[in-house]
Amino acid sequence: MTTTQGQNAHYLADYRPYPFVLTATRMTFELHPQATRVVTALSLAPRDPQQAEDLVLDGGKGVKLVSLTIDGVAPDPSRIIRREETLTISAAALPPHPFLLETAVQIDPSANTAFEGLYISNGMFCTQCEAEGFRHITFYPDRPDVMATFHVTIDSDLPVLLSNGNPVGQSQGRAEWHDPWPKPSYLFALVAGDLVAVSDSFTTRSGRRVALNVWVRPGDQDRAGFAMESLVKSMSWDEAVYGREYDLDVFNIVAVDDFNMGAMENKGLNIFNSKLVLASPDTATDTDYDRIEAVIAHEYFHNWTGNRITCRDWFQLCLKEGLTVFRDQQFTSDLRSAAVKRIEDVQALRARQFREDQGPLAHPPRPDRYEEINNFYTATVYEKGAEVIGMLKRLVGDDGYRRALDLYFDRHDGDAATIEDWLQVFQDATGRDLTQFKRWYTDAGTPRLSLAEDWQPGDTGGTLTLTFTQDNPPTPGQTQKSPRVIPVAVGLIGPNGDEIVPTQVLEMTEASQSFSFDGLGARPVVSALRGFSAPVTLSRPLDDATRAFLLAHDTDPFARWEAGRDLALSALTAASRGQAVSGDYVDAIGHLIADGNADPAFRALCLNLPGEEEIATRLSSQGIVPVPDAIHVAREALARRIAETHLDLLSRLYDDMAVPGPYRPDASDAARRSLRHAVLALLTRIDGGERAEILFGIAGNMTERMAALTALLRRGLGQAELAALHDQFAGNRLVMDKWFGIQPMAAPPAQAVQIAHALSQRKDFDWKNPNRFRALIGGLSANHAGFHAADGSGYDFVANWLLRMDPLNPQIAARMSTAFETWTRYDAGRRARALTALERIAAADGLSRNTSEMVSRMIA
Ligand code: PHE
Ligand code: ZN
Repeated sequence: MTTTQGQNAHYLADYRPYPFVLTATRMTFELHPQATRVVTALSLAPRDPQQAEDLVLDGGKGVKLVSLTIDGVAPDPSRIIRREETLTISAAALPPHPFLLETAVQIDPSANTAFEGLYISNGMFCTQCEAEGFRHITFYPDRPDVMATFHVTIDSDLPVLLSNGNPVGQSQGRAEWHDPWPKPSYLFALVAGDLVAVSDSFTTRSGRRVALNVWVRPGDQDRAGFAMESLVKSMSWDEAVYGREYDLDVFNIVAVDDFNMGAMENKGLNIFNSKLVLASPDTATDTDYDRIEAVIAHEYFHNWTGNRITCRDWFQLCLKEGLTVFRDQQFTSDLRSAAVKRIEDVQALRARQFREDQGPLAHPPRPDRYEEINNFYTATVYEKGAEVIGMLKRLVGDDGYRRALDLYFDRHDGDAATIEDWLQVFQDATGRDLTQFKRWYTDAGTPRLSLAEDWQPGDTGGTLTLTFTQDNPPTPGQTQKSPRVIPVAVGLIGPNGDEIVPTQVLEMTEASQSFSFDGLGARPVVSALRGFSAPVTLSRPLDDATRAFLLAHDTDPFARWEAGRDLALSALTAASRGQAVSGDYVDAIGHLIADGNADPAFRALCLNLPGEEEIATRLSSQGIVPVPDAIHVAREALARRIAETHLDLLSRLYDDMAVPGPYRPDASDAARRSLRHAVLALLTRIDGGERAEILFGIAGNMTERMAALTALLRRGLGQAELAALHDQFAGNRLVMDKWFGIQPMAAPPAQAVQIAHALSQRKDFDWKNPNRFRALIGGLSANHAGFHAADGSGYDFVANWLLRMDPLNPQIAARMSTAFETWTRYDAGRRARALTALERIAAADGLSRNTSEMVSRMIA
């Protein structure tokens, strides 16, 4: 146990408004790699002139105060108190009326390895201020409820100088920007470098012409077009669907190579991890294209949900993130296949959020305590935050949702709002009491729902009674929980496969509740939790034959896929425990493959077996200790059995799904490739790698190359292909990240740690680059049986690298430590080794607040 737990805790209950009002911020940057000078002028006024208070500004260790004046006069130095993370000016030195506080500071961007604040990436200056990076640039009330207009002057000889808002002056060596929309410091951004733009323009529906630029390094222009197309689509979609227009004359996007996260919604100046901007058929996969489109949309949508309406404090993070994820999911389902998108989102939710909820890091979408806010950019805040909004929409209906959102934008434009504000607009717009619903925001954990059926035949028709029971398991710090509102979408299917009762949403509010359907001719099959209408686990006594029936007949695509998933999981969990496996899944999957009418993307989703991690999660939720090697062997065996049973069908499908013509990233071509590659993964298990080697050799795009390479590596083959990929793309960072990531991820488990170790010794393992580090360390963590090697070598390897990364980039170290978040579910031997690794991290001298919070929560 560490002793630091609790020392730095922040509590929601402690919120209090900032005692000063800040109206305008003016800044001048004199950029220099080692010594950047920042002059900041703040127009401040005491919130209550009768109540004299000290002025406390945030400011990190690296910020050196050069000078400070109040209305032009330097106060007595004894009135200025510098502590490790703050600068305090005592009340006695402050006037009881509005005043101008001016500071000059010096910072060293070249020494910034944490990529938080102002730093240098590949020769360009850039910033990252969310959540608390601005305090590493200057002394400031660095909290989201303090909002001001910004006027920024940048002095530098670099050719491109950008900040938020509109450009108001450009001359040799200087640029000026003015952002008229009051914003908190976390939305500030500055970029300076040798950049080129791909440009376009967009005219909003009220006639504002907006200049659009995607800024990249010279030479990368031909890979920025897809990002630009995605931006234009996002802007029109938000007008059409939410009635939201853009509100400045320019919208800039910049791609940077060193970035801790995916992308950032700074007002008018979005900054992106270059992997979420740059794409060409030769270097990016279908999945990369999908993600670029979704993340460009996500950041753009933040302009309203995040920027125009921001968060009062960081406990409210899901107010902007949950809603913005929900909006980007809607966007993707409108543009592509809604059914496929829903299934993919549920898969991701289960893989990341259910996993988080199952272990020591479980927390509510709105936490009420944190030590380091960067540790709360989680699947729970983002993805579960989005699911909660989906449920709200299901409960109040599309019209109710629309009215509530209109009211939200109307009432809170310009505000720093809370979850209470958000729920209030739904109550006011729809008249619905959301007191109980609010538990979704304040309670952690995944409710377990069980369904029991009772069938009573009768003369005038039979009655089917569905009894749902919910159980809300304890999570850290929350032992007792009350029932939640759970919308359960249900449909009934007759014995001949026809739908007899279309989808209805049953609203569950109690711990146990029954719903009856009468006048039924014959006992129907229940299709439950259609569309995944609530983020719960559903258990019901269903035999494999009924699951196969649902896989064949359900009209709801999610429920249909889910039936197949359950079949596969029941086969896999049985096999991993040495039990015999029925042929139901193998047969059912054969019917599905043969169904030429079904969307290829849907068939691919059904054909991809659940991953080993998912199988482990399922076992563990049934109270069974997962054995990683046994899971791996069971999954391999089932894949092989499917391939052998359906060899002819699969071979034909592989040939049929070839996509002719030049590569296009659109949904229909990508769907065919996804099916073809799912088939390839199966066939490679019995054809000695022949098809995959051929495909790699003739591949015209990165999607095919990676599919072929992955299939080969999983069989322990593919060395020549690896070398070829390296030769061709050694100069392309993003492709090399894939090269580093795929090897530990797809390696046969027994070799994974050794492969990761060898890669980590290479000169081109530029581990200080977050993408490269994530590729290798994250790649190994994603190899379930490899990371969880019984001898603890996976744990030791990852722990060593976390310890090495932590002093340089604590955010990345803390984030990657989640590899351990499931450690408590394994056997005693693994638990002991994982605990040793975690304790070794916890004991490190000078461990960051980030990593120390994560590790102490995990071993608590
Ligand atoms: N706010 C960003 C997003 O969700 C994520 C982010 C958080 C980026 C913190 C950087 C730092 O779009
Ligand atoms: Zn976001």
